[in-house]
Amino acid sequence: MVRRIPDPRLRSSPLPVEAASFVGRRHELAKIRTLLANNRLVTLLGVGGVGKTRLALRAAHDLHRAFHDGVCVVDLAGLSDSTLLAQTTAAALGLRDDSTLPPTDRLIEQLVERQLLLVLDNCEHLVEDCAALVDAILSHCADVRVLATSRSALQIEAECTLPLPPLSVPEDDEPSPEALLASDAVQLFSARAAACLPDFELTEDNRADVAELCRRLDGIPLALELAAVRIRSLSLRQILDGLSDRYRLLTQGSRTALPRQRTLRSLMDWSYDLLTEDGRLLWARMSVFADSFELDAVEGICPDDELAREDIIDLLAELVDKSVLLREERDGQVRYRLLETIKEYGLNRLRASGELATVRRRHRDWYADLTTRANVRLEDGEQIDAFLRLRAEQANLRAAFELCTTSLDGARAGLRMAADLRNFWIMVGALSEGRRWLRQLLVFAPDAPEAVGGLAVASKLAVLQADVAEGRRQLARARALATSTGQQAWLAEISHNEGIASLFSGDPATALNHFTDAYDAHKAAGTDFGIMIALIQAATARSLLGETSHALELCEECLEISERHGDRWCAALAMWTQALLRWHWNEPERAETLAAETMRIKEAFGDRLGMAMAMELIAWVAEKRGQHARAATLLGAVQGAMRSVGAPSLFNHLEDGHAACEDSTRAALGEESWRAHVDKGAALDIGSALSLALRRSSKAVAPRPPERPEGDLTTREQEIASLVAQGLSNRDIAASLVISPRTAEKHVEKILTKLGLSSRTQIGVWFATAHPDDATAPPARYRERHHTVGA
Ligand SMILES: Nc1ncnc2c1ncn2[C@@H]1O[C@H](COP(=O)(O)OP(=O)(O)OP(=O)(O)O)[C@@H](O)[C@H]1O
Ligand SMILES: [Mg+2]
Repeated sequence: MVRRIPDPRLRSSPLPVEAASFVGRRHELAKIRTLLANNRLVTLLGVGGVGKTRLALRAAHDLHRAFHDGVCVVDLAGLSDSTLLAQTTAAALGLRDDSTLPPTDRLIEQLVERQLLLVLDNCEHLVEDCAALVDAILSHCADVRVLATSRSALQIEAECTLPLPPLSVPEDDEPSPEALLASDAVQLFSARAAACLPDFELTEDNRADVAELCRRLDGIPLALELAAVRIRSLSLRQILDGLSDRYRLLTQGSRTALPRQRTLRSLMDWSYDLLTEDGRLLWARMSVFADSFELDAVEGICPDDELAREDIIDLLAELVDKSVLLREERDGQVRYRLLETIKEYGLNRLRASGELATVRRRHRDWYADLTTRANVRLEDGEQIDAFLRLRAEQANLRAAFELCTTSLDGARAGLRMAADLRNFWIMVGALSEGRRWLRQLLVFAPDAPEAVGGLAVASKLAVLQADVAEGRRQLARARALATSTGQQAWLAEISHNEGIASLFSGDPATALNHFTDAYDAHKAAGTDFGIMIALIQAATARSLLGETSHALELCEECLEISERHGDRWCAALAMWTQALLRWHWNEPERAETLAAETMRIKEAFGDRLGMAMAMELIAWVAEKRGQHARAATLLGAVQGAMRSVGAPSLFNHLEDGHAACEDSTRAALGEESWRAHVDKGAALDIGSALSLALRRSSKAVAPRPPERPEGDLTTREQEIASLVAQGLSNRDIAASLVISPRTAEKHVEKILTKLGLSSRTQIGVWFATAHPDDATAPPARYRERHHTVGA
């Protein structure tokens, strides 16, 4: 039987923050709890704006402790391509998508051992596909339960529906104060009105009007919120009168809509009509966004001759004020979002105005441009910010790709966009998704000039997924097309990928030739990012050929280039490669320092797989030092981290070291204690696992002395300072780091200048003060990074 490893990473996956206060629904929350105890799928049903999403999120907060692996919320509102349903769900679970299994199978494989509540929010536009996915999950994963929200039922056997009524409204025309306060609708309206007009309160004088208003709005939360903002400029009576007129108009106009839909519709019409002309345009145009978006995107997409760019900021404030737009702040970044019903309303208006296609195209072009700019930043400093931005924009990128798959012109734009996302897809671990878009785009534009880049990227993603045969087919096509269309720039990338394919086929010698070609081609083109990757890959090939010292030199060259660009990604790859080489060279201390640094960088990228790979080496070092319990706990933490991203196993070339570490920790601790430590490690959240790994001994880390501003040394300089502190000469340092003595000397000179010191002894004293008992302390700027990025 498979043992279930506790996985707190899912339990602690952050649930969306609740913006404004939550009102009532005690009965429904209790009901959801009971229904979920007895049913595998509970669907909250109800009209738009009735509060399904809000209630599901509240239930998720309340229930997350009842499920061993916690709750995972998947917001489907922004997803229009149902074929990405399983992938989107897997991504919400934090799983990487780098396996070649069909996405649904992969998801099921990961969920089989989990006891988890999956919340699928806003299923209505994908009902049939959601039904199929949920059916598959439930029939394979015995301990998974699903809470769905939808305007129509999924209609599968396991489903139990819970129709969600609107909030309770006061029944009498002249309600008593108690009846008034017992009404959830009154509470919500009053809370939102008071937020708009601090003086607002329920009084003897206004209670009949408030009660009537809540009844007229059918207790629909979204309607109550939209009406409450009117309180700033209108009296309750005026609002009621305005409402009556609109409702009458709408009832005459449409006989098909249900009464509640009419209520909300009339409210939205009213909200819309009361906006300025520009506000209306903006609402409609913003409906092309999927999920959330930032100010620069609104400014880049929505303005034209009719709508001035300078007015956008004020208009956004107006829409937030009127409860049309939600403003969210995360990690110091402001993003906006339209509630689903409001977005649909905007989209209908946009369609009616005949502008839909134009604005969608502008959305696509703007995001294509964003990917180009972001890729430049990914390759040349500001990497982490660029990475986080692209990660936040995935729903919009998908929307842009969807439009690209509908025309030849679009496909060419899509291929350019895919080429710009080549690094991002690898960094974020979205290999399957990248391949999927490329497949669709290449069908449309197989011979377009952009197909060269598309094929090159597709081949890379394929070989990285160990789909070498497919990768090679694409490479052959890419090479032929690059040659016939004279696109030399892609030849370096193609050589690269041929090298990776050779590595995967167990032929490091051929791989090395390809990487050398790639290096030369990148050098000729002056693309440093490509050079760095080629160096790391060549180092891997050389290490497999047993040429350790040469491999270290290549990593070193990579680190020097990386330092110049403020790059982190390649630095982490190079340091991890070096760490492994140092380990095999019997230099555990150096291996640990490098692995620790790798881990800190991977943390900033939120790359749990990368963190796990580095943690593995730290476990080996701990074992070598005789810290058996810590080593076993770290092995467990690695296992937990791998599992949380759905990675099946460590790389092949780590297997021997892993087995050795496992064997000797087990022998030292005894089976029972060993198992307990591994389980303890597997139960650690990633933050605690990192702290454990980054501490060299069990001794508590003493508080760090205050930063000296002059101590802003580069990673390399910090490392050299530590060697100077250990009394090494320039020649020793050079030998140890596989650099020339002249380079070592230059580094030492730079350190002296930066610190304002005059001798090597002073460097030693400075280093000892800055790192009293933690030789793996990160350089200052990495620490700063962590605080600002908070990944
Ligand atoms: N119980 C509640 N307390 C406070 N606010 C609520 C409550 N229920 C709903 N709301 C607010 O009402 C608005 C609409 O709610 P929500 O988005 O949950 O509706 P929905 O039924 O999911 O709509 P849709 O079908 O469009 O997805 C939101 O602003 C939400 O915060
Ligand atoms: Mg909803």
